[in-house]
Amino acid sequence: MKIAFGCDHAGFELKPIIVKRLDQRGIDILDHGTFSAESVDYPDYASKVAASVSTGEAQLGVLICGTGLGMAISANKTHGIRAVTVSEPYSAKMARAHNDANILTFGSRVVGPDLALMIMDVFLDTPFEGGRHCRRVGKMLALEIVSADEEATCE
Ligand code: RB5
Repeated sequence: MKIAFGCDHAGFELKPIIVKRLDQRGIDILDHGTFSAESVDYPDYASKVAASVSTGEAQLGVLICGTGLGMAISANKTHGIRAVTVSEPYSAKMARAHNDANILTFGSRVVGPDLALMIMDVFLDTPFEGGRHCRRVGKMLALEIVSADEEATCE
């Protein structure tokens, strides 16, 4: 299995802990950065991880920022991405089992290292249940509207 990884400066402290656990689990890591504690913009990393998962270069993705929220919002702009921000193990399990989530995001300012590892382990160990959930995941995919002409605004 290959996991695409990304974080911003807020997630950088947690990065070695997460990477070490992935390594211990024998998982290949596609590390998209960031590679220092210097301030960066989370969409730049979310989009790289999302692209890796969307193209099949990686099976799943993990993203860390301060809250996990900006990473999830950004990653979910990419076709086929179901990124979820998780701060407890039950949601990590259900996000995989029912929603077939393919990117896990969490906030380094929300969860501590031990909880982050527990959440990631549950996420990685839980398979998608399929069955009736396939229909629902298919319907989520159908909600995606690609509009290249849409203007990006932020006030
Ligand atoms: C950076 O200060 C912070 O805004 C970012 O890491 C993240 O929490 C955004 O969602």
